[in-house]
Amino acid sequence: MIDLLLGLQWGDEGKGKIVDVLTTNYDIIARFQGGPNAGHTLIFDGNKHVLHTIPSGIFHKTAINIVGNGVVIDPVIFKKELDNLAKYNLDFKTKLLISRKAHVILPTHRILDAASESMKGKAKIGSTLKGIGPTYMDKTGRNGFRIGDFELDNWKEKYNSLAQKHLKMIDFYDVDIEFDLKELENEFFEAVKVLKNLTFIDSEEYLNQAISNGKTILAEGAQGSLLDIDFGTYPFVTSSNTTAAGACTGLGVAPNKIGEVYGIFKAYTTRVGSGPFPTELFDEDGAKMAKVGNEFGATTGRPRRCGWLDLIALKYAVQINGVTQLMMMKGDVLSGFDTLKVCTTYNYKGKVIDYLPYNIEEKNVSVNYTEIKGWKEDLTGMTKIDELPENLNNYIAYIEKFVGIPVTIVSVGPDRKQTITK
Ligand code: IMP
Repeated sequence: MIDLLLGLQWGDEGKGKIVDVLTTNYDIIARFQGGPNAGHTLIFDGNKHVLHTIPSGIFHKTAINIVGNGVVIDPVIFKKELDNLAKYNLDFKTKLLISRKAHVILPTHRILDAASESMKGKAKIGSTLKGIGPTYMDKTGRNGFRIGDFELDNWKEKYNSLAQKHLKMIDFYDVDIEFDLKELENEFFEAVKVLKNLTFIDSEEYLNQAISNGKTILAEGAQGSLLDIDFGTYPFVTSSNTTAAGACTGLGVAPNKIGEVYGIFKAYTTRVGSGPFPTELFDEDGAKMAKVGNEFGATTGRPRRCGWLDLIALKYAVQINGVTQLMMMKGDVLSGFDTLKVCTTYNYKGKVIDYLPYNIEEKNVSVNYTEIKGWKEDLTGMTKIDELPENLNNYIAYIEKFVGIPVTIVSVGPDRKQTITK
């Protein structure tokens, strides 16, 4: 069986930490979509690590880590991640396996991303500019360059023909973007040499064999459900399926092989980049969440927008993913509020509704809140469920009742140890 771990909001829910906590239960950890736009933060033994493409199981001695076919890989960023891990003396050749079918982010994909965003002006998505969109465009447009292509004798010809095409497209965009392609390519080709020393596999075959042999697998999602290319707040989304179905296509495993679906959410809501966010706060409460929660993007360092928990959106994500267990992150950040608010209905086209409609932009949707009493206690030192304040338990119980799924883990701080199982 394969269990899934997914973010249920706009990303940055704390997936890296939970994968890290759960890894000891699994033989294999696999990434299935997204790329280095992700930043999964792990904190243990007083050290902080941010992973972008490498699965979060890399720090555990026995786990095999797989970068699946649905992922897009930038060799340059991948090499930097490997360099940052050098001090741990990990055996990448056997612990880190890469799907031949994963697509490669070329330097010109990154330039195209910048050109496309620049041309959008005010309507820009707020992309991480890692080349994600253009790489998935080439994939679905059937022009992409895959990891397996590096095993061909003439891979550079293939590379060149795609890069040349991109240069023509960059010209078409008619925006002022300076770049030194030679320098970018030197860096890219150096990184490819390192990448080619790793192990490339037919990951769908590997994973299905592993399932037949009774191995346990955890699929680690990136970004969040509201950034899903189909079900997110389009067009302010990423370019992959971040939801449960993405694990099937991004790894080659069938739906009937899926076991638990762990849904991770923050006790409040954050978003980086542009796009609608109905419960966004522009007052002291939002500023407090940002400050106490240290809400800055792990990949770009951008400040995250903050707001109250949106239960309509959470219920939607639970439904689309078939979540079986919820995990609530950053409960500690809400300590000290007299009253908490959760969004329980939207006003939409003159009606009160309890589902996520086609368009949740401000001009279409406003929110109605239910108020819940807050708690004052500092949660960060708590280790057992019976230590949690009564009002926090009430908050959790309200969420569980609203979405119909139990909360099984409450995280009260960034460290591995600050994790309470219910
Ligand atoms: P892109 O996928 O880098 O093009 O970014 C598209 C949108 O998704 C932007 O609003 C980004 O801020 C957002 N995004 C992409 N990756 C992440 C992530 O890992 N966490 C949070 N937001 C993300």
